Order: sequence, then C-alpha cells, then structure tokens
Amino acid sequence: MQVKESLSKGCKRYFILAVICSLAVALLDMISPKVVQYTVDHIIGNSPVTDDIAAEVIAFAGGREYLLSHLYIIALTVAAAALLAALCRYFYRLFNIKGTERLIKRLRDRIFDHIMHLPFSWHNSNHTGDIIQRATSDVETVRNFLSEQVTALFRIVVLIIMAMYFMIDINGKLAFVSGIFIPVVILYSLFFHNRIGDAFLHADEEEGRLSAIAQENLTGVRVVRAFGRERYERERFEKQNNSYTHMWIKLMGWLSAFWCSNDLITGLQIMLVTVFGAVFCVHGEMSVGAYIAFVSYNAMLSWPVRELGRVISDMSRVGISVKRIRYILDSEPEPAGTETSKHLGTEPLPVKFSHVSFSYSEDTPEVLSDVSFEIKPGSSLGILGGTGSGKSTLVYLLDRLYELPEDKGTITIGGTDIRELDIKELRRYVGLVLQEPFLFSKTLAENIAITREGEADMKAVEAAVKVADLKDTIEKFTDGYETYVGERGVTLSGGQKQRTAIAQVLMKNPPLMVFDDSLSAVDMETDARIRAALKSNVKKSSMILISHRITTLMQADVIIVLDHGRVKEMGSHEELLRKNGIYKKIYDIQTEGAGL
Ligand SMILES: Nc1ncnc2c1ncn2[C@@H]1O[C@H](COP(=O)(O)OP(=O)(O)O)[C@@H](O)[C@H]1O
Ligand SMILES: [Mg+2]
Repeated sequence: MQVKESLSKGCKRYFILAVICSLAVALLDMISPKVVQYTVDHIIGNSPVTDDIAAEVIAFAGGREYLLSHLYIIALTVAAAALLAALCRYFYRLFNIKGTERLIKRLRDRIFDHIMHLPFSWHNSNHTGDIIQRATSDVETVRNFLSEQVTALFRIVVLIIMAMYFMIDINGKLAFVSGIFIPVVILYSLFFHNRIGDAFLHADEEEGRLSAIAQENLTGVRVVRAFGRERYERERFEKQNNSYTHMWIKLMGWLSAFWCSNDLITGLQIMLVTVFGAVFCVHGEMSVGAYIAFVSYNAMLSWPVRELGRVISDMSRVGISVKRIRYILDSEPEPAGTETSKHLGTEPLPVKFSHVSFSYSEDTPEVLSDVSFEIKPGSSLGILGGTGSGKSTLVYLLDRLYELPEDKGTITIGGTDIRELDIKELRRYVGLVLQEPFLFSKTLAENIAITREGEADMKAVEAAVKVADLKDTIEKFTDGYETYVGERGVTLSGGQKQRTAIAQVLMKNPPLMVFDDSLSAVDMETDARIRAALKSNVKKSSMILISHRITTLMQADVIIVLDHGRVKEMGSHEELLRKNGIYKKIYDIQTEGAGL
C-alpha cells in the first residue's frame, strides 16, 4: 500500500480530527436521556439517589430543592448538549470533507499524470472509454467510501456500543430484548444489500449502454442523417431506455419492500421493549425515569443498525474500484532517462537501422523483417510501400512509441543506440507528423505552436503556416489564427489537419523530420507545393518522407521500397528506375495516364 500512504500525506490530521468530533457527537447524544432519567426519578420524583455520578451531578447543580424550583436549568442543559452535538457534527463533516477532497484531488492528479506517462502501446491496447471510467466513476466510488462509508461505519459502531452500554447499565434483561434484534437487522440488511448490489451494478451497465447509444448518435449524426437511420436509431434508443426504466422501477420496488419489512422488524423491537419495560416498571425492577431513558437509547439505535448492513455491503464494492484504479497506477510508465544520458545536439546526425525486426505481439507474424538502411546527415529518405507494409511501424520504433526488443536489431542516431537515450531527448530530436494527426480543442495558432511552451511567437507560426501551405485556408476563416478547432469549433478536413500537423513540426524545427503519409489527403498540386517549400526552407534537417505515392518521394536522396515488412529495393529515383524492378512497375502504374 505504498501508493496509499503517500497519497494520504497531509490528510491524516483531518481524518483524525473527524474521528474525534464523531466520538464527541456520540458522547453528547448520550447525555440527554440520562438527564431526563435523573430528573424524572430524583428531582420531580422522590426516589433516593443510588448512583454516585447522579448524586455528584445533582449536588454540583445546587441540590434537588434548588433544581426543582429552577427546572429551566435542566432544560437548558439538554439544549446545550444538543447544541454542542450539532456543532461537533458540523466540524466532523467539515474535517471529513477536507481530508477526503484533498486525498481524492491528489489521487485524480496522480492518475492523470500517470496516464500521460504511459507508453503509446499501453494506450493502444486499452480502451479510452474504460480508462475514463476508471479515472472518474471508480475514483468517485473511492471518494464515497472515504467521505461516507468509513466514517459512517465508525460512527455507527461507536453509537451502538455506547447506547448498548447505557442500556445494559439501566436494565440488563431489557437490553437483551433490544439487543437480540441487532444482529437480525444487520444480517437481513447485509443480505438484502448484497443481493441488490448486483442489480445496481447491472443498472449502471444499462445506463452506460444508454449513454453510449446517445453519444454514438451525436458524434455520428452525419452518418445517421445521410443513411436515413433516424427511425432505427430512435427505436434502438427507446428500447434501451425502456429496459433501463423497467430496471429502476424493479429496483425501487425491491428497496421499498426492504424498507417496509425492516420497519416492521424495528416496530416489533420497539413494541417489545415498550411492553417489557412497562412490565419491569410495574414490578418495580426499573424506575420510570430509567424506562424513559432506555426507550430513548433504543430509538437512537434503529437507524444506525439498519445502515450498518448497507455500509458493509457497499464497502465490498470499493475493493473492485481500487483494483481498477491500481491497474492504471501499476502499469509501467515509459522509461525515464538518466542524468548521464547522451545529448544529441541540434545538428543532423546519421540515422541507422540495422537488421530491425518487429512484431506487435509474440503470437503475431513479423511486421518488419531484417530492415537495414542509413540516412546521411541532412539528406532525405523516401519510404514507399502499400498499406500495411510496415511504414508507420518503422517510424513508431524510431520515436520509441514502441520499444524494439534487445535482440531484434538496433536503431542508432549518431552512433548511439536510441534505447540508451532519454526518451524526451529522442523526441526533441525527432519531429514526427503522424499519419492521423490529432488537434486539441484550442485555436489554430495554439495548436500549431503546441510544441513550444509558453506564448506563441506569431512570426514563427506564420512562417510555418506558409511552408505548410495553410495560409490561404487560415485567411478564409473569419477568426483567422484564432479559429477554434476540434469539438468546440470548426471541423477541419483531413488535408487541413495534415497541414496543421506539418506546421507544428516546422515550428519545432528538429534535426530529423518524419512525415508519415502526411500528404495523403491533399491533392497532387498542393503536395508538390509543400514539398518544394520544404525543400527550400528546411535545408538543414534530415527528412523521412513516407508515402504510397511515388511523386511524393521521387526527389528524395534515397528511396526504399518496403513490401510486407522487407526492404525490396533501395536507391535513388533514377537508380531504381534503371533497375526495372517493382519500383519501376509501381512508377508505370502510377504515372500511366497522368501525363508525367
Ligand atoms: N498497434 C498495432 N497492433 C497490432 N498490429 C498492428 C498495430 N499497428 C499496426 N499493426 C499491423 O502491422 C502491420 C503494418 O502496419 P503499419 O506499420 O501501420 O503499415 P503502413 O503504415 O505501411 O500502412 C499491419 O498489418 C497492421 O495491421
Ligand atoms: Mg501507415
């Protein structure tokens, strides 16, 4: 529980204070019935005082005669005890909330921070929806547990023990009559809540399904409209909504039945205590004041006893949530570099792949097999290959989004194995434009300048935008650079997104730039314009261009043809054409009728 300990640092004192206040509340609640008992028996009534404490208290307050003529003092005592109890209750809640909220905030921060540091491969193999569920609802369950259940359990146990103590002190036999009901009610409530707990879980799942349908339809509204699926989707929603509603009605029916039957048991207990108590009074085994006090203590018990079963049953559920949260926190983050890790500098260095082989998991075939090539500093490499030939995988390995196993070859930059580099340093060195770029719900300027911390330098943004051929597009938006993109703003086309991502990397100006199919969604002319602009603006950096379109790559210094994860051909455009191999074949197919 190492994680838990450091999480609760600074919160413990609040929980301790809450416990103290809750003890005070329980103790103060015990006072009034006792005061009433003494008043009825010894002040108003005339029975001799046998109890030492009672004698002392009465003497302290001015004696029986004085109190009898000043009954309001007794009334004030009861009121003061109630007031003090209310105050303690307030502080108990306050300390409890302060402790819980601080701890939960820290937990949330930690989960988010950890998720940010988990490797790309982890994110690829875990569903976003599930991660969000763990980071929100499961945290909520833990929060409930801390703010409600733990303290409720403590309070209830203390209350039961204290009330039972006073009841036994008043009359052991009557305390037995009252007490035998306690385990019955607790067990009944525990049994019921365990049963109904599964139904609640089921209801949660049904609710999840309902919101999934709603969300799907909201995000896919265009498809729904375009294919005239409104009726089908509405019926699907209605069906799910029906099933959800029936589930809740059934659940509430069970809950009502439970409360009713429980009231019946409690009623029976109160009746027995009242009757037996009266009998004991008549037989002189118990004074009237003691009888009244006993009934008060007994009434105090009925709620906590009932709650105990529910709290215990709820507590079992928090274990599942803690496990689900721990799954995230226990996942291995990306390895951090050491102080001594090498720095690559800002000049382009030779990049070398030697006999690189890779498969995504042990039981799937190799995606890359024995891939070797070298990029000279400042030169460009084109990678040509069909879909699924392993082009993106190659880039993932270079950026260590996936780790290349020790015995599967090496990738070096300036002679240093990338596995020995600090991952931050590597990613500073490599500027990657992903095949499917993602933009945040921010302005265009903010998105483009995202690789730089702090205020965006508008001059640099404009320069990058010009090279990425995005200038005209941005100028057409009424808000220009301040145009919001993503969920909250305009929807960019695939090509516009790609060009924004290119501008991002240009802003970063790294020694090695990688464009993974980054021009696939723009037309040939724009493609040519961007390439020309890149060539004349990015003189220093080495470059990897990936495409399935020969025209995109043919000006690269070296081109490799990748097929099913293997390097089939390598050379310059002219060399490859002369070879008359598959490059030539692809060239012929792609240029046929294009007039090139
Ligand atoms: N995260 C992944 N898990 C398992 N297999 C993957 C993953 N990503 C890609 N693949 C598989 O690896 C092969 C190469 O994919 P990729 O490198 O994306 O090819 P390309 O970029 O050339 O289209 C494909 O068969 C693809 O299905
Ligand atoms: Mg790809």
